[in-house]
Amino acid sequence: MIAPPIAAPVPAAPAPPPACDFRALRARFPTLAERTYFATHCFGPLLDATLTDLDEYRRTLALRNRVIDVWLERVDEIRRLFAQLIHAGPDDIALGGNATACHGNIAAALQPSPGRNRIVTTSLDFPSTRYLWQSQARRGFEIVELASPDGLAMPADALVDAIDDSVAIVAVALVAYTNGAMLRARRVIDAAHAAGAIVVLDAYQAIGVVPIDVQELGADVVVAGTHKWLHGASAGLAFAYVERGLAERLTPAYPGWFGHSEMLTFDGRYAPAPGARRFEQGSPSVEAVYAARAGVRLAIDVGVDAIRARSLALSDRLIAGADALGLPLGTPRDRAERAGVVCLGVDDPGRVARELRDRGIDVDTRPGTGIRLSCHPCNLEDEIDRVLGELASRARS
Ligand SMILES: Cc1ncc(COP(=O)(O)O)c(C=O)c1O
Repeated sequence: MIAPPIAAPVPAAPAPPPACDFRALRARFPTLAERTYFATHCFGPLLDATLTDLDEYRRTLALRNRVIDVWLERVDEIRRLFAQLIHAGPDDIALGGNATACHGNIAAALQPSPGRNRIVTTSLDFPSTRYLWQSQARRGFEIVELASPDGLAMPADALVDAIDDSVAIVAVALVAYTNGAMLRARRVIDAAHAAGAIVVLDAYQAIGVVPIDVQELGADVVVAGTHKWLHGASAGLAFAYVERGLAERLTPAYPGWFGHSEMLTFDGRYAPAPGARRFEQGSPSVEAVYAARAGVRLAIDVGVDAIRARSLALSDRLIAGADALGLPLGTPRDRAERAGVVCLGVDDPGRVARELRDRGIDVDTRPGTGIRLSCHPCNLEDEIDRVLGELASRARS
């Protein structure tokens, strides 16, 4: 049976207590009741309010052509929420279908020029963005891809050393998808700006677990998406922050009506919207917008500082336990150089991940990482101890 259509805004989600009680907050994640969940770096656990929002989305479907204003309000709202989360303005946000597409729209608007044609990036970046930056070689860029100095940390020194007047773009992950290594970004951004280069940060593995203030950070572009540490329930939504001055110097190569300054005038000639909005193209995935809303609100309400503090405390416990078991740490030990993921060396990580999964514990692995475990702020100390207990008997084949 189709539920009655609604046009009214979705009611506010219950606010968490001011100083967050993560044990109480845990009750709002059905996934955490069912699984011992250490896989937020892959897909965040489901949040109860997201299901309410998705029910609302289903009811809007019955509105058909009357739905547009309702959906446009939700789309505006998610831009405002992303902006609030990273201390930007709503017009500084361009929504996109995924992080690669967001990167692609920025890349396409940037041109190499004689004497300034290098893109500096790293081999720790997410493969999809690596393909994207590598393929800019056919547009006249020269690509320099730097490796980790020790196989664990982001190559901050090498990035700084590689930056000179020939560099147009430094495109780098704030947090590596492989092992959660975090870049000391400020140094790299300062060096890039001193040399006249722009910095594009992939913050997908940081957003929601590492506080991001774009004013303080000074990055020119920050790209992130919703289904990991922001608890978006489905894929299909990402965003790019673009610093206002830069955005307004750039003309999108592939514009669309959502990036028009007066989208609903249906003007036949493109006039770029102010700020980053100009990088939007056609209709967004509205279902993904509804699926993302509650998680972004939660991050704002709880505060990413508190989330980070709790996640680090749990990571420290996991690392101390792994040290005691003699398991090699595959993530930088320094707190300033890791985000929410801890990697541990085990024999045959695929086997260990499968055996743990069969025992109700979600972890995963990527080539060369050992097993990857996310410390979600609503994990419990007992769960850390349980996973360590399982690893004690399984880590060596
Ligand atoms: C660092 C990083 N960037 C980007 C992505 C996803 O990119 P996309 O939204 O294009 O699928 C991931 C997903 O795992 C990631 O870890």
